[in-house]
Amino acid sequence: MSLLRGRRAVVTGAGDIGSVVAQRLHEHGAAVEVWDSSQASLARVEAGGMDVRLVDVTDRDAVEAAAEDAAAAAPVNVLANTAAVARFGSLAELDPDDWQETLDVNLTGVYFCCRAFATLMAAGGGGSIVNISSIGGLRGEADFAAYCASKFGVIGLTQSLAREVGASGIRVNTVCPGAVESQMNTDTMARDARRYGTTVEDVERRILTRTALGRLVQPADVADAVVFLASDLSSCITGESLAVTGGIF
Ligand SMILES: NC(=O)c1ccc[n+]([C@@H]2O[C@H](COP(=O)([O-])OP(=O)(O)OC[C@H]3O[C@@H](n4cnc5c(N)ncnc54)[C@H](O)[C@@H]3O)[C@@H](O)[C@H]2O)c1
Repeated sequence: MSLLRGRRAVVTGAGDIGSVVAQRLHEHGAAVEVWDSSQASLARVEAGGMDVRLVDVTDRDAVEAAAEDAAAAAPVNVLANTAAVARFGSLAELDPDDWQETLDVNLTGVYFCCRAFATLMAAGGGGSIVNISSIGGLRGEADFAAYCASKFGVIGLTQSLAREVGASGIRVNTVCPGAVESQMNTDTMARDARRYGTTVEDVERRILTRTALGRLVQPADVADAVVFLASDLSSCITGESLAVTGGIF
């Protein structure tokens, strides 16, 4: 359990997946600081021996100040961007403010964090950035245009950035989770049940029959992929998207 001994990590988002990502990085030896704009979310990880900081990732000045502060004592080597929102609605129904918020948090927030830490990591000798996209970043879905657009954007940002910062010893990769047992997935399945006039149980059954392993993804499955990409086990991997879906087809 020492894959990340001596490393310092910042994780944005302390939700159902982000909190487990932070915990797993910590278990593998990293000193972890978790950022979230919600005190309630931060409370989930506070007891686990990790530092927490109230940061809105859409606030560029706040992100830059927090990043400099986090790296002041010693270089930050790992950044995992998990903070996100999910807003549903058809093109006509979705409030344009929800479209904007989705892009602000899920894409611009990731960009601000990458921008702040890439500069600091370059000065500190390198590092690994892991951005959480989604299966929705690999293929579009009805009533989910804003989310999918933001998650496709994360993959484009990741590939471009990887080519820019590789020479500074920084790797940048994406993890694309499928249907993860979480509140976000429960909300998504409820949305699908309403759309298709069926039950949540039926939606889940349909997902599982299209999944090779026949089960939902667990937050720990995503966290283990993040640990792999954060560690030296993946030292020659950059600009890639790793799907953690249980083999969805
Ligand atoms: N849950 C799933 O089924 C699923 C599937 C595919 C991809 N993902 C992705 O995995 C990641 C983690 O998902 P999750 O299930 O933990 O989500 P979640 O909703 O449980 O947690 C998201 C966290 O981000 C925080 N956040 C929102 N806006 C913020 C802002 N402006 N600044 C800082 N923090 C902010 C929220 O407070 C929350 O704690 C997300 O990027 C999500 O899109 C999730």
